[in-house]
Amino acid sequence: MLILGIETSCDETAAAVVRDGQFVLSNVIASQINVHMEYGGVVPEIASRKHIENIGRAVDAALREADTRKHQIDAIAVTNGPGLVGALLVGLSYAKAFSFALNKPLIGVNHIEGHICANLLGNSPISPPFICLVVSGGHTHLLCVLDNWKMEVLGRTRDDAAGEAYDKTARALGLPYPGGPSIELLAKEGNPCAIMFPRALSDDRGFSFSGLKSAVLNYLNKQRMAGAAFSKADVAASFQKAVVDVLTDKALSACLALNINTLALAGGVSSNSALRESMRLACEKNNIALFAPPPVFCTDNAAMIASCGYFRWKQGKISSLDLNANPDIGDFNGM
Ligand code: KG4
Ligand code: ZN
Repeated sequence: MLILGIETSCDETAAAVVRDGQFVLSNVIASQINVHMEYGGVVPEIASRKHIENIGRAVDAALREADTRKHQIDAIAVTNGPGLVGALLVGLSYAKAFSFALNKPLIGVNHIEGHICANLLGNSPISPPFICLVVSGGHTHLLCVLDNWKMEVLGRTRDDAAGEAYDKTARALGLPYPGGPSIELLAKEGNPCAIMFPRALSDDRGFSFSGLKSAVLNYLNKQRMAGAAFSKADVAASFQKAVVDVLTDKALSACLALNINTLALAGGVSSNSALRESMRLACEKNNIALFAPPPVFCTDNAAMIASCGYFRWKQGKISSLDLNANPDIGDFNGM
């Protein structure tokens, strides 16, 4: 079963060919980072226009790299939400046209479920039950994926997503967009224990990152107003440590409380090496198997969408050609 995946929910125009939901034959990502960098964040209108420019080439490249012809594709899986509506519509319209012209099934995929499915790619795919921490630019969710692939949301952020906290903190430090990789790089030169930023560790499984962002801003303002010297690298490292501590603590607590010994990471922030190392150590200590997709499958890509589409197809969940973009779909269907 060959699925063409298409992903255009934010600032990456991505296309991939995946066999049987697991084996990646191609994974093409046309990044717009350089364009949006100038503005310090994603400009939705520009993102849509760039997707229109890139989508045809990205799909052609994905087919070429997979050594696959259009008519050999069995189905098209496409992200239909959540995301930027104008950006989503480009991928969705392209996928519908492809589906109609070649008479192949169309499968709408929830972007967050797609991120989770990055753990199904490769030779040793994850199997439920497991706890999954989804940490991206727009979402921070702690989920329990049950035996029947039903997904139960254990907690979510009340304010900023983890990636958003990275992006906003990076901007305050004058670092380029996207903030995650910039902070990760600078943090390597800093002392993570230099500044004790707050950790929002409430008893429930929800998250909150806006207090941490404010604490960083307050610290920077205070230092600047007092004319005191400070190390940006120490701020980056201390901020990152606060995020990583909270994410590790909450994910591990959920595994232990629910007696589930498999933990999966997903979403752009899970490409962060400090987070991966902290999770690795905590899981090792508690005898929990950790799944963390290779970094290229953590950030937005179409292979994860094709993988998710495969499981939807197996369940007969085919979409009709009137499928619309839904920027706010936050609910998870389970697979
Ligand atoms: O999953 P993703 O590519 O797109 C969304 O669905 O949002 O995640 C993008 C987010 C951005 O906020 C970016 O700063 C963050 O993931 N990110 C990282 C790293 N790479 C990307 N955060 C921390 N460390 C990284 N290495
Ligand atoms: Zn994403």
